Parts: sequence; structure tokens; C-alpha cells
Amino acid sequence: MAPGARLAVVTGAGSGIGRAAALRLARDGFTVVATDVRLESAQATADAAGPPAHALALDVRDEAAWERAFTALPPLPLAVLVNAAGITGFGAVPGGQDPESLTLETLRAVLGVNLEGVVLGCRHAIRAMRDAGGGGEGGSIVNVASRAGTLGVPGAVAYAASKAAVISVSRSVAVHCAGAGYPVRCNTVVPGAIDTPMWSAVLGDGPDRAERAARVAADVPLGRMGTAEEVAEAIAWLASEASSYVTGTELVLDGGLAAATPTAPRTK
Ligand SMILES: NC(=O)c1ccc[n+]([C@@H]2O[C@H](COP(=O)([O-])OP(=O)(O)OC[C@H]3O[C@@H](n4cnc5c(N)ncnc54)[C@H](O)[C@@H]3O)[C@@H](O)[C@H]2O)c1
Repeated sequence: MAPGARLAVVTGAGSGIGRAAALRLARDGFTVVATDVRLESAQATADAAGPPAHALALDVRDEAAWERAFTALPPLPLAVLVNAAGITGFGAVPGGQDPESLTLETLRAVLGVNLEGVVLGCRHAIRAMRDAGGGGEGGSIVNVASRAGTLGVPGAVAYAASKAAVISVSRSVAVHCAGAGYPVRCNTVVPGAIDTPMWSAVLGDGPDRAERAARVAADVPLGRMGTAEEVAEAIAWLASEASSYVTGTELVLDGGLAAATPTAPRTK
């Protein structure tokens, strides 16, 4: 397949994991469409990737925006969709996320991006991939969940629930597509603590950033936070033909945390 002949769409491509995935997929020879609710940040990613990558505004919560974006895609077979857009909901909406103080407003805000956005993305990608077959090599959807979606997280009920739902949606999409005979795979990456702008509120940008990151990583067997590029590596593999027998599964990138002896946080 000629370089650039297959399309990879990435949501949340303006920052962190989405940006790293877009840059990586561009290096792998895909024509990348970097999308984000913040068009200028998606454009910066497309510029960094270089031609033929380009940018589109896409608020993943908005069904009409998905229609517009898919109508505006270059006339190439869609090979990859990476659903990386996501929010923690901390600070964006008032109220904490423990089970006693979580408001419906916060819950809906988080589910709107992290769950509804992924559902809409999968629906649009399935339609595009089932007909074009990813340009003869099949299509691959990669959703970004979180370690939070595999645990009880008392201070992040909305975020954790949204990410558990992403894992569930991915499995359902995978089984649906396989059962229907579509050339479409769907998998999930499950990152632990990855040093991206999502952590800015916790890590800050000051001289003690590395020290704070070390505290976040205190329980991680590999002894550090992960990088967006390390997650992008896994996404690129799941997007590629190298993972052709892999669908409906989760690839965990947590520095060994899930394998370590659990230490339950205590509030008293
Ligand atoms: N950083 C981590 O430790 C970590 C761990 C596990 C999972 N994740 C998940 O990885 C994904 C990427 O996170 P990140 O760490 O790169 O965060 P980030 O904040 O750096 O990037 C998130 C991007 O999503 C975009 N976005 C937000 N709302 C959007 C919307 N409605 N429509 C389209 N784009 C929107 C933002 O503009 C931003 O560019 C998220 O789904 C996040 O939940 C991150």
C-alpha cells in the first residue's frame, strides 16, 4: 500500500496521548486527520506531523459534528480511528466525584465526552470501515480507557465509570463487527499514570514537577509515570496489521501496577 493511501482519524489529537498517537501513525505512513474540540491544537499536531496530515474541529459529544467531520474526510479508505479525547471532569464542572458529592451535572459532563464520544466515534468508524474495508487491509478502532476503569476509585466515580464503559463498548463493538463479518477490529488501551497535560493540575509546571511525578509513581513497579509516546506505540500496534488476530481486548500500560500487591487507600 502506497504511503498515505489509508486514513487514520484521531480524536483529542491536540494534546497528550492523542497528539502522540497522531504523530506516530503519520510516521507509520497513514494520512492522519488530527481532530480536537480545540482546532488550533489539532492544527499544531497536523503541522508537526507534516503533509499529508491535516486538522479538523471535532467535539466528540456532538453527533452533528461527527457527521460533518466524516463528510470532510479525504476520499481515502478509513483504516484507523483512535478515540483519545477525554476529560477527568475535575475542575471542569463544580463538585467532587466521590459517591456522596458527585452531581448529575458532573456525571453527565464526563460521560458525554468519555462514553458518548466513543460510542459516536465507533458508530461512524464502523460505517466507514465496513464498506471500504480499510483499503483492503481492514479497519482498526482503538479506544483509550484507563486503569481507573478497572478499579473502584472513590474520588473519581464519574471518570472511572466512564472508562469502565469504554472497555465494555470496545468489547461489544469487536464482537458485533466480527459476528457481522466486517473487516473491523476494536481494542482498548488501558493506561496507568501517563505524564500529559491532563496531570497539570496535580504536577504543575514548576521546578518541583519531577518530584511530584515521582510521588505519583511511588507505587509503580517501573518507578515512573509513562509517556504519551509509550501509549502511542501500543496504539500503533493495535492499529496495524501486526495485531490482525487481536480484537475485543485490552492492552494495559501501567508500569506493572496491576501486577503489584494492591494497597487500598485509607481515608481514616
Ligand atoms: N494521562 C493519563 O494518565 C491517562 C491515563 C489513563 C487514560 N487517559 C486517557 O487518555 C486520553 C488522553 O488523555 P491525555 O492524558 O492525553 O489528556 P490531555 O488533556 O493531554 O488531552 C486530551 C485532549 O482531548 C481533548 N478534548 C477534551 N474534550 C474534548 C471533546 N469534547 N471533543 C474533542 N476533544 C476533546 C482536549 O482538548 C485535549 O486535546 C483520555 O481519554 C484520558 O482519559 C489518560
